[in-house]
Amino acid sequence: MPFRQAVWELEMEGTMIKEARKLLAVWGVDAVLLGVLICTALGGRGRWEEREADAGGEAAVRTDGEKSVALTFDDGPHQIYTWRLLDGLQERGVKATFFLMGANVRENPDLVLEIAAGGHLIGNHGYRHEDMTKGELEGMCESIEKTSKLIQEITGKAPEYVRPPYGSWNDDLEEAVDLTPVFWSVDSLDWKYQDADQIARRVLAQVDDGDIILMHDIFSASVDAALEIVDTLLDRGYTFVTADELLVD
Ligand code: NI
Repeated sequence: MPFRQAVWELEMEGTMIKEARKLLAVWGVDAVLLGVLICTALGGRGRWEEREADAGGEAAVRTDGEKSVALTFDDGPHQIYTWRLLDGLQERGVKATFFLMGANVRENPDLVLEIAAGGHLIGNHGYRHEDMTKGELEGMCESIEKTSKLIQEITGKAPEYVRPPYGSWNDDLEEAVDLTPVFWSVDSLDWKYQDADQIARRVLAQVDDGDIILMHDIFSASVDAALEIVDTLLDRGYTFVTADELLVD
């Protein structure tokens, strides 16, 4: 699979450059010179990646639509970045899943309505991003219920899915909460990188059929990365579905 390999090598290159940058920083090398070096290296690899894709190898471009992937966005909605994301998704005809925080739902009811109107799936992410496995079970259930109630008041539909913050979940919660937990298989680490190209490269190097990708629509770079990921995966023949379509019992 030349294409996947190419992307993987690109990812490796990124890591190597990062290490090199650290070393050069220690040696006190000029930052502009270093920037040119990095751009040349990354640009060179980027062009090679495109050539591989255009070459039409079977792994590079598939148009049979059999590969599915779900983009999921946690912690929103955000009054600037979520709007931009919704516009970008709509332009591309792509549906995603939004795990909303109750406190942000309360602040942005019009945005919640817009997400629902766009045909996206809305899930519960707790009221204040609590680690559900810490603290009183009763309080955690209240946080989830309060959030579900708010979402239902706005959209007319109570969420059926919960994304526990930090992926923290246990048997007690499983028993007490009437929502299905949804985790992820590809972590974009967007909150850490805050760099669209880096986030997109990381996700595109890992993603495969049936993956659920974790992102956050509360950062500008995440929105840029998400749309870059969408464009590339559409080219690779992927179909974007909501997370409920990829859950296996
Ligand atoms: Ni979160």
